[in-house]
This record gives sequence, C-alpha cells and structure tokens, in this order.
Amino acid sequence: MEITLNNGFKMPIIGLGVWRMEKEEIRDLTINAIKNGYRHLDCAGNYKNEAEVGEALTEAFTTGLVKREDLFITNKLWSSDHGHVIEACKDSLKKLQLDYLDLFLVHLPVATKHTGVGTTDSALGDDGVLDLDTTISLETTWHDMEKLVSMGLVRSIGLSNCDVFLTRDCLAYSKIKPAVNQIETHPYFQRDSLVKFCQKHGICVTAHTPLGGATANAEWFGSVSCLDDPVLKDVAEKYKKTVAQVVLRWGIQRNTVVIPKTSKPARLEENFQVFDFELSKEDMEVIKSMDRKYRTHQTAKFWGIELYA
Ligand SMILES: NC(=O)c1ccc[n+]([C@@H]2O[C@H](COP(=O)([O-])OP(=O)(O)OC[C@H]3O[C@@H](n4cnc5c(N)ncnc54)[C@H](OP(=O)(O)O)[C@@H]3O)[C@@H](O)[C@H]2O)c1
Repeated sequence: MEITLNNGFKMPIIGLGVWRMEKEEIRDLTINAIKNGYRHLDCAGNYKNEAEVGEALTEAFTTGLVKREDLFITNKLWSSDHGHVIEACKDSLKKLQLDYLDLFLVHLPVATKHTGVGTTDSALGDDGVLDLDTTISLETTWHDMEKLVSMGLVRSIGLSNCDVFLTRDCLAYSKIKPAVNQIETHPYFQRDSLVKFCQKHGICVTAHTPLGGATANAEWFGSVSCLDDPVLKDVAEKYKKTVAQVVLRWGIQRNTVVIPKTSKPARLEENFQVFDFELSKEDMEVIKSMDRKYRTHQTAKFWGIELYA
C-alpha cells in the first residue's frame, strides 16, 4: 500500500525506522525486512549507521533481492549541516552507497553549530545547552534542499518536526512544496490539527515514533507507552491482533505513513502484518478519544533545552 506524494512519487505506507539499531544488527535486519516485504527505510545521518545501512543495501541490490527502484529510501539533514546542505547530502549518499534518495528531510527546523560535514554532532555550549546557530533560517535551508531536487540527488524533499506555524511558512516561501512532514504521532499524541493541516495542503504526514517509542522511550525519557494501554489491549483482542498492530493500523487508517523500528526479527514480521484487517469506525473513535497530547521526546534531557517549548 502506498501514498502518492504531491509530486507524483509513491511512498510505501509502512517503512522500517533504523534509529537506535546497533551497527552489527543492521545487515540482518535490513535483509530480513526486505524479505518480509518492507520497501521503505527511514534513515538519517544522525542515526550514525548510514555506512552499515549502505552495506546492507548494496548486498540486497547485488544479490538481486530487490532493485533500487523498488525501494523508497528516506534520509535526513542533521541540524549541524544546515549551512552545508549539498555537501551533507552528497556525504550521506556516499555512505549509503546510493546515487539518489527518494526523500530527504530537514530533520529538525533548527540549525546548530557546524561540526564538519556529516559528523552530525550536537555540540553543547559552555552552559551545557545545545549550541544553536541563529544565523541560518529554515527558509535558507529549504532553498538549498530545493537545489538537491534540480541536481537529481533527491526525488522529494520534506520537513520533520514542524508545527503548523513553520509548515505554513514553508508553504509560503517554497518553490518546491514539502512532500512530507515527519512528526511524532501515536495514540497518546495524535496532533489532529497538524495532521489535518498538512493533509489539506497536500503534505503527507509520516508518523515517527508510531508505537510511542515503547520500551526504548520509556528507558530514554521515562515516558509511558501506549502499547500497555488496557483499552488498546481490548481492541487488539477483538481483532486477534497485537496492540502494536492495532496502533500501526490506526496510523495507516488516518492516512499517515508509519515507520516503526524494531531490532527483533519476529516483530519485523508482526509490524508488517497490518493489511489483513480494518479497524471499524467505532474503534477508530475509541482510539481517537485516547489522546493525551503526550509527547515522548524530551529534548532537554540531552541538550539542556526544550526545543518544543
Ligand atoms: N524525525 C525524527 O525526529 C524522528 C524521531 C524519532 C524517530 N524517528 C523515526 O521513527 C522511527 C521509529 O521511532 P522510534 O524507534 O523512536 O519508536 P517506535 O517505532 O514507536 O518504537 C520503537 C520501540 O518499540 C519496540 N517495538 C517495536 N515493535 C514492537 C512490537 N511489535 N511490540 C512491542 N514493542 C515493539 C522497539 O523495541 P525492539 O527494537 O526491541 O523491538 C522499540 O523499543 C525511528 O527508527 C526513526 O526512523 C524520527
């Protein structure tokens, strides 16, 4: 199942997120995912595993497991490279061993201290706070992203972690409209207004953290996981599915692309088995009523500043 982007390219509605995958497990997970039917990978320079993803992809192409044109590969520009968009994209392509990306996103709408192309560091100032660069606007970065399309290095460009204000602004100044806004959204953080605003203006919403980050975010941020919710457990039981499958299906039925991450081969399969059932209108409403407006990502934890403040 695919979503057609505003430039005609098609994006598979489910992808595999590779954040927090250990380098040594990437090869097997990527090959396994492709064998399980995944055709979409969500990567980023800041995940610091581009080279391993690149090796796995090269193996998949050279062994004939899949053709390049049948995969949709997303990558992201890290904040420290806002002033170096073209070099950073070329650096990522080299590490990924690709000659084009299907989608390149501005990972966060904020520039930080440049630490060298592709180093993707998040340098802190003397005060222990993320060293923000206040000289580069998102508009400047966006116009450089547009150049990548004309250079043939990327097919589509998009935003990530942008609210209604910034997304609207980008629509006003862009020559190439953002194809995607990738945002945190899951049953406890539904963001209906932002999702509807994007969709109304032809911007596909990709749900990052579609499972609410589960145990990973519980460990990192002390957050509560929607996968433990008793109401969701009841819904899952009714469909003879797991809570994760129900949550992903809910994301798909609200026309968002979902990119769950797992390092467990059995869960790769589980998370992909979401096309053989449909949540009823009533159950979609039940899940809708569960919104807690609860963001799991807390940037202050690592960067000394709450960027979403
Ligand atoms: N644009 C951004 O700023 C941004 C931010 C965050 C994430 N992302 C993207 O979104 C992707 C997904 O986000 P995420 O990894 O933070 O969160 P997530 O996919 O919502 O949750 C991942 C967590 O769920 C567990 N899990 C996966 N499948 C499961 C299942 N079937 N049952 C129970 N637990 C399950 C994983 O553990 P195991 O690995 O042990 O299975 C891991 O702890 C990332 O990989 C990345 O590509 C983008």
